Amino acid sequence: MMIPVSIKGIGKYLPEKVISNDDLSAILDTNDEWISSRTGIKERRVVSGNESASELAYKASLNALENAGLDKTELDMIIAATSAPDHLYPSLSCEVLGKLGLGSGIPAFDVTAACTGFVYALGIARSFVQTGQCKNILVIGADVHSRVLDWSDRATCVLFGDGAGAMVVSKSDDAINRVLSVKMHANGAKSSELKIPIAGKNCPLVEPREEEPQFLSMNGREIYKFAVNSVPASVLEALEDAGLTIADMDYLVPHQANVRILDAVSDRLGISRDIVFANMDKYGNTSAASIPIALTEALESGFVKTPANVVISGFGAGLTWGSAVIRLENMGKTNG
Ligand code: UT7
Repeated sequence: MMIPVSIKGIGKYLPEKVISNDDLSAILDTNDEWISSRTGIKERRVVSGNESASELAYKASLNALENAGLDKTELDMIIAATSAPDHLYPSLSCEVLGKLGLGSGIPAFDVTAACTGFVYALGIARSFVQTGQCKNILVIGADVHSRVLDWSDRATCVLFGDGAGAMVVSKSDDAINRVLSVKMHANGAKSSELKIPIAGKNCPLVEPREEEPQFLSMNGREIYKFAVNSVPASVLEALEDAGLTIADMDYLVPHQANVRILDAVSDRLGISRDIVFANMDKYGNTSAASIPIALTEALESGFVKTPANVVISGFGAGLTWGSAVIRLENMGKTNG
């Protein structure tokens, strides 16, 4: 018998520094018209000085814990989805553990599934709670892409922003705000279409390896086609796994990469564009953070009116994709 799993609280944190499309056109051969019409992005947030991914993640975690009404000492695991953290190790989740001041020895680890990372982390958290191994898990999505972008490459640097979101996933005591299904997928055949190589050279006693630029590179058109094909099928699969159909979906809160992808996905699913949440105009693509930030804002702004069946859906490097169905009844303070 699987234990029911609920979302207790959700939160977000964005760095303060705003970079507009016009700001970028001062340093690149680009313009607001191109960026807005091709992507829906108007501005993004970026870290400044020594601001770090773990700091953003920590602040989003405090927000989620507060909204959940849960004391941090009641956590028994931290899972962070991140693909642009501060360090390869220690993990971002261990850094957040340290910032929270928890010395109880609870496990903390990171998941790398790029922009699908949050769906993956939620799926892992759900399994630990379902099987009775954990009661309260902090699930984080945090990425600082501004430090791994080539700021002279207009095809990529205009698309991304930094941010963090977090969610408290718990054993359900009252059966409200339940996670009904999580489905995850990957296909390694197209892994080179979107990547960030790790810096480093071979041992000086051996032949050097071919140098790769140490920045994010992307085949935008391939990723666009992949997203438009994979997201509708993934949404339908997660709904079916929850015993629901597309007619039962009240809202879709997808990964925020490009507003044109959301338009095409809505068309393919035959749903009204009005039930699909978008906030990439303010933040750009914040990768693993985009879904929890979007879901927090969809609730806070009153876009999502509960009770509702909400589907979250991610896609990105790997290639990875996946969706989850959440039945939201009452998100307390987060409800607008
Ligand atoms: O979360 C990870 C998932 N990533 C994504 O979902 C990204 C998916 N892909 C996309 O969103 C789109 O493919 C992009 C927004 C990245 C690009 O849009 P596009 O309509 O596919 O444009 P394109 O790459 O085909 O480029 C069209 C033109 C090119 O010029 P020419 O060759 O036609 O003269 C580019 O050089 O636009 C040019 N261009 C720009 N112009 C002004 C590319 N970037 C820019 C720019 N400003 N920033």
